[in-house]
Amino acid sequence: MNHEIESIGQPLDRVDGRLKVTGGARYSADIPVAHVAYGVIITSSIAKGRVVQMDTAEATALPGVLAVLTPFNAPRLAKGSIEAQSAQQAQPTGGGQQSGPPNRKIHLLQEADVFYNGQPIGLAIADTLERAMDAASRVRIRYQEETPTLQMKYELTHAYKPQGMGGRPTPPDSRQGDIDLGWRSAAARVEATYVTPAETHNALEPHGTLAIWEGDHLTLYDATQGIFTVRKRIADLFELPPDNVRILSYFIGGGFGSKGPVWSHVGLAAMGARQVGRPVKLVLTRRQMFGNVGFRGETNQRVRLGARQDGALTLVKHDGIVQTSAYDEFVEPVGANTKMLYACPQIATSHRAVRINSGTPSYTRAPGEASGTFALECAMDELAYRLNMDPVEFRLRNYADTDPENGKPWSSKSLKECYRLGAEKFGWSARSLQPRSLRDGDELVGYGMATAAYPTRRSPASARARMLPDGTAVVQCGTQDIGTGTYTVMTQLAAETLGLPPQRVRCELGDTDLPEGPHSGGSQTAASAGSAVYLACQELRTKLTMMAINDANSPLHGVPASEIRVERSGLYTEGNRGESYAALLRRQGTPEVEARADAKPGEEQQKYSMYAFGAHFSEVRVDPDLGRLRLARHLAVFAAGRILNIKTARNQFMGGVVWGISMALFEETQMDPRNGRIVNADLAEYLVPVHADVPKIEIGFVEEHDPFVNPIGVKGIGEIGIVGAPAAIANAVYHATGRRVRELPITLDKLL
Ligand code: MOS
Repeated sequence: MNHEIESIGQPLDRVDGRLKVTGGARYSADIPVAHVAYGVIITSSIAKGRVVQMDTAEATALPGVLAVLTPFNAPRLAKGSIEAQSAQQAQPTGGGQQSGPPNRKIHLLQEADVFYNGQPIGLAIADTLERAMDAASRVRIRYQEETPTLQMKYELTHAYKPQGMGGRPTPPDSRQGDIDLGWRSAAARVEATYVTPAETHNALEPHGTLAIWEGDHLTLYDATQGIFTVRKRIADLFELPPDNVRILSYFIGGGFGSKGPVWSHVGLAAMGARQVGRPVKLVLTRRQMFGNVGFRGETNQRVRLGARQDGALTLVKHDGIVQTSAYDEFVEPVGANTKMLYACPQIATSHRAVRINSGTPSYTRAPGEASGTFALECAMDELAYRLNMDPVEFRLRNYADTDPENGKPWSSKSLKECYRLGAEKFGWSARSLQPRSLRDGDELVGYGMATAAYPTRRSPASARARMLPDGTAVVQCGTQDIGTGTYTVMTQLAAETLGLPPQRVRCELGDTDLPEGPHSGGSQTAASAGSAVYLACQELRTKLTMMAINDANSPLHGVPASEIRVERSGLYTEGNRGESYAALLRRQGTPEVEARADAKPGEEQQKYSMYAFGAHFSEVRVDPDLGRLRLARHLAVFAAGRILNIKTARNQFMGGVVWGISMALFEETQMDPRNGRIVNADLAEYLVPVHADVPKIEIGFVEEHDPFVNPIGVKGIGEIGIVGAPAAIANAVYHATGRRVRELPITLDKLL
């Protein structure tokens, strides 16, 4: 990369920050459109059975009501029934070159079957939101009810071997070495079961779609993590050429995996708009975001670890049973990190699934890594105590110098440095080994730690860079900013590569008319889109340089390209010979110069194992009489390749840690065991940490220069922050109290 302009890495304020805080940023549901109508989804109130009748007479007679769609009158879609979707279910949905998340089976009113409480079974459309809500509430529904399966703990014996692993190309089981030998040869062992409840992502911006038909062309403004994923799926469902479908998503108020796949409401908005011949806006209520749009499924994880007296692991075995729905399959890959985190000749993982009458679980920030690492890293802590060994020391004894899963070298790995720096900054050495040995007044004090890891992913991506006559640049990529700072870091990459101040770069995203970019999942947006933007800007720079060299009137005429640098919004030699881009373009009479790049992963994918790593350290305080638990402080150190913006990166890591605190202490989606209704489906009763629950969080960085991962050396930081944080907190709780809580969330009743 070029080092002349210091833009990359700098704590540049978000380029869209002003728009966001002034309300100028328009999210999908905010887009004004003439003659718009409003859709409201009608959901089932039983968990299993069939809709026998929907009496819409009263609803449709209300003023302003345009349509009430039900399984009995909705337009037929050739690929819309659950059965028809089964055939395509395993297909990734990304258009063209992309590999988006696999299709989920969605509910498009093609059949009357009910698989969970809260499933979409109808759509009311009216000229105002209030009238649509009123109409939706006045549809009389008769069901034929069956007995649902609702509680995983009673159903573990019905677990079955799943087909796939939540879209990953890995089999459900893995096995290396002789497992029995590993168990027999251990001097210390741990065998324990860890449980994580269902957890629901709750982006502040609810899911929302605005559908506009013009003839057989459809435009959707959609809150999505993948505009091309939506285009492909919707084009398939409505049997349109993809070019007839345009998806726009300028601002997204958080995705967290929930906005990765295409869910029912997107198809219903398009169907409804076509039916009533008007644009239709459909926004989910908060309640409707519990179940319809994915969540982290419940997990039951049995971990067996063995080690020799010197601490060397002899066995790592991790068997997960996870929740899936009654009609579709998503498997939380809890064993993902278990295969690669520690050096051990005997490692085995397995995944089984249980069908529950719930919505289908789906990607939830670090799916598999977040839930699985809780179990693995708590078990590691338990074994460290059996060995009477410091937990950091125990992990160092089992440090993996190559990837245990496949023997490949790491592209880079700075986990030792994360442990070292984290322990030092945290004051880990002040920790005594014994539980209940640290006190502050009446309170028990505990320190805990855990490891974090998350794979470095990348998808093909294309980008365009344009130099305009006024010497400003525009970079474009058909990806989206889900709130993570993509606009900002792409601006920084372009600014540095072109020698412009960031203020002279405009970044455009969120439109399928732009060159195709990646879906924002798997922490891959910066690596994928960033590589494309970087290469497009390099190409643009070369074009501009050649233009100047070949221009008899340019001060750079005939100067060797190798002597020309980009700086001060133009092209200059070390001796200050040169000109601004604006001067060059003005003289050439060129309206603009454009370059495009198609970036894609290469052989590095086969040669290296690529991960970001980190270490969490937590301090908790527990009142032994009341069980009251407070997190006192949390420190995490990450090594994630090149950091594009230290401010937005810190923000991402802190967000991950906050969700880790939430997983450890608060979150649980609770189902009514009688009827499958989610009982805490709002932000008053679905507990997440408030400010008072979040202590000082310190984030440390270990700088890494990784020349292998991708052209810009970034590893992705969207998900790793949550990985390991719940285990560090649970381990601190054990250290404080001597109480090992293996079932999240750790609430006060579990400490009494
Ligand atoms: Mo993220 S859970 O891979 O969208």
